[in-house]
Amino acid sequence: MDIYFFLGKGGTGKTTISASFSVGLSHYNKDSNFLIASLDPAHNLGDAFNIELSNKIKKLTENLSAIEVDLEKMIKEYLNDLSTNLKYTYKYLTSFNLDKYFDVLRYSPGIEENAVLESIKKFLKMNEFDALIFDTPPTGITTRVLALPKLTLIWTKRLMDIRRKILDRRKMIENVKGKTEAIIGDEVITLTADEKEDQIMIELANYSKEMEDLMKLFQSDLTKINIVTMPEDLALFETKRIIESLNKFNIKTNKIYLNKYLIFDNPPEVIKGKIIEQDRVIEKMREEIKNISIKDIPLLSQSPRGIEDLLKFYDNYILE
Ligand SMILES: Nc1ncnc2c1ncn2[C@@H]1O[C@H](COP(=O)(O)OP(=O)(O)OP(=O)(O)O)[C@@H](O)[C@H]1O
Ligand SMILES: [Mg+2]
Repeated sequence: MDIYFFLGKGGTGKTTISASFSVGLSHYNKDSNFLIASLDPAHNLGDAFNIELSNKIKKLTENLSAIEVDLEKMIKEYLNDLSTNLKYTYKYLTSFNLDKYFDVLRYSPGIEENAVLESIKKFLKMNEFDALIFDTPPTGITTRVLALPKLTLIWTKRLMDIRRKILDRRKMIENVKGKTEAIIGDEVITLTADEKEDQIMIELANYSKEMEDLMKLFQSDLTKINIVTMPEDLALFETKRIIESLNKFNIKTNKIYLNKYLIFDNPPEVIKGKIIEQDRVIEKMREEIKNISIKDIPLLSQSPRGIEDLLKFYDNYILE
């Protein structure tokens, strides 16, 4: 399964270009099935398609579907699953008031990133689509989402080391006193010292495997990271930052869409400065970013909206 991400600064054209890309790709690959998903909490994918979208997958054409992911709902579901799971795993820790922690967790840093990653995982598991196209939230969140599997892996490995130490201690006690038991109400639970039977260790190992697979997927050629940018200084700085921060996690940038460049034979006085900045930025971008292909897309007099417009946009500016 190919995965395409479109990321970049606000307003550069992520939604327009990802929507147009999905329309073009599905139009010229009728044998394959495509899904475009907006992961941006401030959705505007439906506006680009001129169709009302929701948190339910909607078929737009024979082989293209779209969804605007409800991230608030994802966060709630994620916390609920986590809470159920933890309550079950730690049922012998009755003095631990988990609900209190979950109320706080909703507002913890990283929770949005986790919800976005959970959402990506859900689509990957569906096995219904040959390619996924993601219109993403502002850069900061997306680069952190892409880095999350590797970061989580470091944490999980550390947690597994700690758990291993706990189980070793338990084993020592077991050797002296026999199996450790916990009594909850009428139930007597025997606590294991065996890694292969310990529910927490099993959970950590599964999670670790899942994160490792995701990390490898994001680092592989199946994941295509496309940056959408504009010919302005700030957008160029941001583009370089995205490339560098993804590089740190061994994630390659596939392509840069340099959108909304201005074409004028005789630019009016008020816009002359902008054109000079634009030409300078384009030159600098080509000079400083050598190994990534840059595709120029001009600013059109009208915003492309609806499937027909988006296909035309694809044919004219995105198709190689
Ligand atoms: N090449 C273009 N020519 C003309 N209009 C464009 C072009 N690209 C994008 N637009 C318009 O610019 C506006 C912003 O584009 P878009 O919504 O795709 O950006 P975005 O990066 O998704 O923004 P946000 O960060 O707010 O989600 C939209 O009105 C869109 O129709
Ligand atoms: Mg958008």
